[in-house]
Amino acid sequence: MKKVYIETYGCQMNVSDTEVVLSILAGSGYSRTEDITEADVIMANTCSVRDNAEQRIWGRIEQFNIERRRRPALVGILGCMAERLKEALTDSGKVDFVAGPDSYRRLPAIIEAAAAGVPQVDVNLSRDETYADIVPVRCDRGGVSAFISIMRGCNNVCSYCVVPFTRGAERSRDPHSIVREACDCFDKGYREVTLLGQNVDSYNYEGTTFAQLLSMVAEVNPQLRVRFSTSNPQDISDEVIFTMSAYPNICHHIHLPVQSGSDRILEKMRRRYTRGWYLDRVARIRSVMPDCAITTDVIAGFCSETEEDHRDTLSLFEKVRFDSAFMFYYSERPLTLAARKYPDDVPLQTKTRRLEEIIELQNRLSLESNRRDVGRRFEVLVEGPSKRDPLQLCGRTGTGKMCVWTDSGHKAGDYVTVRVKDCTQATLLCELSGKGKA
Ligand code: SAH
Ligand code: SF4
Ligand code: F3S
Repeated sequence: MKKVYIETYGCQMNVSDTEVVLSILAGSGYSRTEDITEADVIMANTCSVRDNAEQRIWGRIEQFNIERRRRPALVGILGCMAERLKEALTDSGKVDFVAGPDSYRRLPAIIEAAAAGVPQVDVNLSRDETYADIVPVRCDRGGVSAFISIMRGCNNVCSYCVVPFTRGAERSRDPHSIVREACDCFDKGYREVTLLGQNVDSYNYEGTTFAQLLSMVAEVNPQLRVRFSTSNPQDISDEVIFTMSAYPNICHHIHLPVQSGSDRILEKMRRRYTRGWYLDRVARIRSVMPDCAITTDVIAGFCSETEEDHRDTLSLFEKVRFDSAFMFYYSERPLTLAARKYPDDVPLQTKTRRLEEIIELQNRLSLESNRRDVGRRFEVLVEGPSKRDPLQLCGRTGTGKMCVWTDSGHKAGDYVTVRVKDCTQATLLCELSGKGKA
C-alpha cells in the first residue's frame, strides 16, 4: 500500500476537501500517514486568500523538497493555490503535480502520471462537481464534530477576494446526499455537523432552500447538533432565522462577516449591503433569538480606507458587540477587481495599527461577552479532556464558546449541563450542573 501525507491550510472547506481527497485515494490503494518521512506522496491542500497564506506554502514546499531529495517521493499541491498558480508551481521544479479543487476524482491518475516522470497540472473548474457521492475519510478531530460541504464555489464578486477565481462558480449539492451524510455521521458517533459553503444562504438545489435544508438536517436526530458557516449579510433570510429558533438542535450561532463598518468601503468591496442593513439584520436575529452568538470577519486597511472609515468599523464593533471575530489586514490578490481598479494605498504600518486597534477592541468585547455568561447554565457537547489540563473536560456551548470543568467522567459525544463560574477572554470556566439536555 502506498502512503500519502497531507497538510491542510485555509478554511473549513479545505479540511472537508482533504477528507474527500483521502477517500478518493483510499479507493485506489493509498493509506494516510502522519509521518512525512515514510510518505510516497507528500501533499499540501492550500489557501490563497492572503499573500502570507501563500508564502507559508512556499516555505512548506522547500521542506517537502528536502524529503524528496532523501528518497523517491512525489510532491503535490492541491486546493486554491494550485488553482491560482497552475504551471508556475510545476515550473519551479519543486512540485510534481498540481490539482485544483474540482480535480480530485482524477487524483489517482494524476499521481500515476506524475510518478512516470511527467509533471501534471489539472486545474479545470467544474459547473457541477460537488463530490456528493464520496464518503469522506474524516480527519480525526475527536470523532464528535464533522464538516459537511453543502455547496462549492462562489458567485459573489467581493472586490478583494480570490475565492471565486480559485473555486469557480457556485453550485449546490443534492440535499438527500447531505442528509445521508449527516445520518452516517450520527451512526458513527458524531454529535455535531457543520454545514459549509461560502454563502450558505444562496444554497438552492432544484428549489430546496437553505432554510429547508437546515430543517431536513435538524430532523436527522434531536441529539445531532447542527451548525453552519458562512452566512452573508445581504442574503440571510428571516426564514433561516425562524428555522434556527424552531429546532433546539440548531446552534444559536451565526458567523456573519461584516468586512467593514463604512458604507463607502463596503461599496468599494462590492459587498451588497450597507452598515444600516447589517445592523438591521443583527437586530432581527437578536429579536428572534436573544441568546444567539454573532461572530464576524473584518478587513482593516482596504484600498483608500481613511481614519474615519476605520472609526466606522470600530463603532460598528461596539454597536454589535461581536462574541468573537477573525481579523485581517488587507492583502491585495492578483486578478481581483480591487487589484485591477484600486491602488493598495494604505501603508502597511497603518494597516497593522488599525488591525491592532480592532483586535484590542474585540478582545475587550469577547471578554465582556463571556462575562455576561457568568452565572448562566449551558448545554455543552463534551469534546474530551482539555488540552491545557487533562484533569478537566472541555466542550462547546451552542453559541460556540469553549467550556472547561473538572473531569466529571463523561465521554466525548455526551451532553452535559454546566454552570459558568468565571471566565477568561477565550474560555468559560464552569462546574457540572446536571446531565443531558438542558
Ligand atoms: N465567504 C466568506 C469569506 C471567505 S474568505 C464571506 O463572504 O464572508 C474568509 C475571510 O478572509 C473573509 O471574510 C475576509 O475577511 C478575509 N479575506 C478575504 N480576502 C481577503 C484579502 N484579500 N485580504 C485580507 N483578508 C481577506
Ligand atoms: Fe469571497 Fe465574497 Fe465569495 Fe465570500 S462571498 S468567498 S468574500 S467573493
Ligand atoms: Fe478557503 Fe483559502 Fe480557498 S479561505 S476557499 S482555502 S483561498
